[in-house]
Amino acid sequence: MLPIACWTTPSAPHLGHLFVGWVGAGTWTGMRASLPGAHRERRWRPPPARCKPSPMPERVCPWWIGYLLVSPLRKFLQDPGAILGPYVRAGMTVLEPGPGMGFFTLEAARRVGPGGRVIAVDVQPRMLAALRRRAVRAGLAGRIDAREARPDTLDVEDLAGKVDLVLAFAMVHELPDAGRFFAEARAALAPGGKVLVAEPAGHVTPAAFEETMAAAARAGLRRAPGPKVWRSLTAVLEAAEPPPAPGS
Ligand SMILES: C[S@@+](CC[C@H](N)C(=O)[O-])C[C@H]1O[C@@H](n2cnc3c(N)ncnc32)[C@H](O)[C@@H]1O
Repeated sequence: MLPIACWTTPSAPHLGHLFVGWVGAGTWTGMRASLPGAHRERRWRPPPARCKPSPMPERVCPWWIGYLLVSPLRKFLQDPGAILGPYVRAGMTVLEPGPGMGFFTLEAARRVGPGGRVIAVDVQPRMLAALRRRAVRAGLAGRIDAREARPDTLDVEDLAGKVDLVLAFAMVHELPDAGRFFAEARAALAPGGKVLVAEPAGHVTPAAFEETMAAAARAGLRRAPGPKVWRSLTAVLEAAEPPPAPGS
């Protein structure tokens, strides 16, 4: 019952699109309830008040939601292979801010192949720890550089001009400053590089998405239509002008 209870908490209103994990959890809860002796089970109660409050701002997805986000059921609605296929090729460098536990990261790592790399940058160490474990299990750890970021910066100056794709899936609305984020993403792009933005429809209104796009435009990113993704508002961004030549 836990995911259902959490579904309604004001701290996680952006989870409306995660009904896949919810359905999975709800089905299991329902099955358990019909087992003989189920009525004798202790009922779920909220955690005791001594639980440490999360140090993350309320808009940031709680770490345990990461487990729902990597549910295999999600692939039926948001297939990472189909979504990344047109954008990720062998040998590329992909920057993925806010990867969570790596629903898209592993697919990106498969696609860049042994000659490419994926830099996954998240503010939550628990998300990154799970991502690393999953990468090891998938035999992809050598292609994935999982880094902890501070909330207000990606800290990726070392990637300036090197990134072929920035993948920002369901994370821009959690940032304190979208303008700074897009400026950093823009600086990281290699010539011809792209930023793929997807935001959860419903939680992010079309008007809020347009504001996000305006912040991207101010950072020097030009917008093109994004791919069709279930319950998502999407866009693909490119540098409006080539980056200035070194020393100019
Ligand atoms: C809703 S989850 C999406 C995870 C993943 N992209 C997916 O679609 O499965 C948002 C992620 O962004 C991360 N995040 C939030 N603020 C961030 C920031 N300032 N810098 C980097 N990551 C951040 C959260 O920790 C979380 O892992």
